Amino acid sequence: MAGNAWRSTIQNLLGKYGLWLAGKENPQPQEVSRVLGAVKNQTSVTRGYAGGIQTVTIIPGDGIGPEISDAVIKIFDSAQVPIHWEERNVTAIKGPGGKWMIPPEAKESMDKSKIGLKGPLKTPIAAGHPSMNLLLRKTFDLYANVRPCVSIEGYKTPYTDVDLVTIRENTEGEYSGIEHVIVDGVVQSIKLITENASQRIAQFAFEYARNNQRSTVTAVHKANIMRMSDGLFLRKCRDVAENYKDIKFTEMYLDTVCLNMVQDPTSFDVLVMPNLYGDILSDLCAGLIGGLGVTPSGNIGANGVAIFESVHGTAPDIAGKDLANPTALLLSAVMMLRHMGLHDHAKKIEKACYDTIESETVRTKDLGGNAKCSEFTNEICRRVQDQD
Ligand SMILES: NC(=O)c1ccc[n+]([C@@H]2O[C@H](COP(=O)([O-])OP(=O)(O)OC[C@H]3O[C@@H](n4cnc5c(N)ncnc54)[C@H](O)[C@@H]3O)[C@@H](O)[C@H]2O)c1
Repeated sequence: MAGNAWRSTIQNLLGKYGLWLAGKENPQPQEVSRVLGAVKNQTSVTRGYAGGIQTVTIIPGDGIGPEISDAVIKIFDSAQVPIHWEERNVTAIKGPGGKWMIPPEAKESMDKSKIGLKGPLKTPIAAGHPSMNLLLRKTFDLYANVRPCVSIEGYKTPYTDVDLVTIRENTEGEYSGIEHVIVDGVVQSIKLITENASQRIAQFAFEYARNNQRSTVTAVHKANIMRMSDGLFLRKCRDVAENYKDIKFTEMYLDTVCLNMVQDPTSFDVLVMPNLYGDILSDLCAGLIGGLGVTPSGNIGANGVAIFESVHGTAPDIAGKDLANPTALLLSAVMMLRHMGLHDHAKKIEKACYDTIESETVRTKDLGGNAKCSEFTNEICRRVQDQD
């Protein structure tokens, strides 16, 4: 089939899923969040958060979500963080034309507040609706998933001094949701890579590196095999790198990164990659510092919208038993505070959390202790207040 015919066939297919081959806007550099460390170069995202009480949309989620959300709210109260929480539930509903959407109250709240904190949402297989996490990403064009993986002092793992950040393209690639049966027994998933999305995630990664005093960005890819899709992603990373001469740019195959990561994670700094690779590699990196229970993340979107979330799931096996570790959601909320420019509160809460873990006396079961979620939370509150 000639090039143009292919293009029109694929475009018809994408149109069926509500996607088009062009049209995503690239962000302005100043829209790129600074989510870890002190502010250096941020304008738009801290705008409006400097003083007064700010509204944050909180989505408690399912399973352990409500317990760990309550823990975060309690700790924030003890630190007197100037935030008003607007609680919204997120369930899949069918909108006009049968399209799946999040409840309008949740969308309106996020559109207004621009900032959300989210607990885990269950994604039953064969639920009959798309993953709520995917729906949220699509609704708010949350194109960058940022996961800092930094060793926790006092909590030993086989790795020390891990200090890296994975930046995952969150909207396309293998997770575009374009799947169909070609003939009985043969199915096809399309890995969609666009120039615009590749460019904006590369730009985000370099801005992030620059704003967070990080020296290197590594593009993770398999362009040796997927020459067109990963080739395009890599090419856009190279192009963007040209505008950031102060940041070192390297490129590595995904398999080599995995090998080197488990041998010596300290050799990595900021890593940027397409969706599926980011999903898997970021979990591997979380394992280096103690697992999903202690790893925070932020999803940064277009127009200054951001949703911060723990990366673990709903933990149905321990839900409702006061056994959950709220650390991941709490550290995600700390990232959120930095995103909002509330650095003093962020520092205070982060210190209380790390000190509690380091003291070893009040740790939750997943970290080798016997403390309940509520006891761990109370200890952090006490340490927050002790700093006053
Ligand atoms: N971001 C999200 O909303 C998200 C992410 C992953 C999974 N999920 C959903 O969560 C559900 C359960 O998924 P799963 O069982 O594969 O993974 P999971 O992360 O919920 O649980 C895996 C294991 O880790 C433990 N665990 C997880 N978080 C913990 C915490 N904070 N404290 C202590 N222990 C914790 C659980 O008890 C369980 O043993 C599924 O429906 C899945 O789709 C949602």
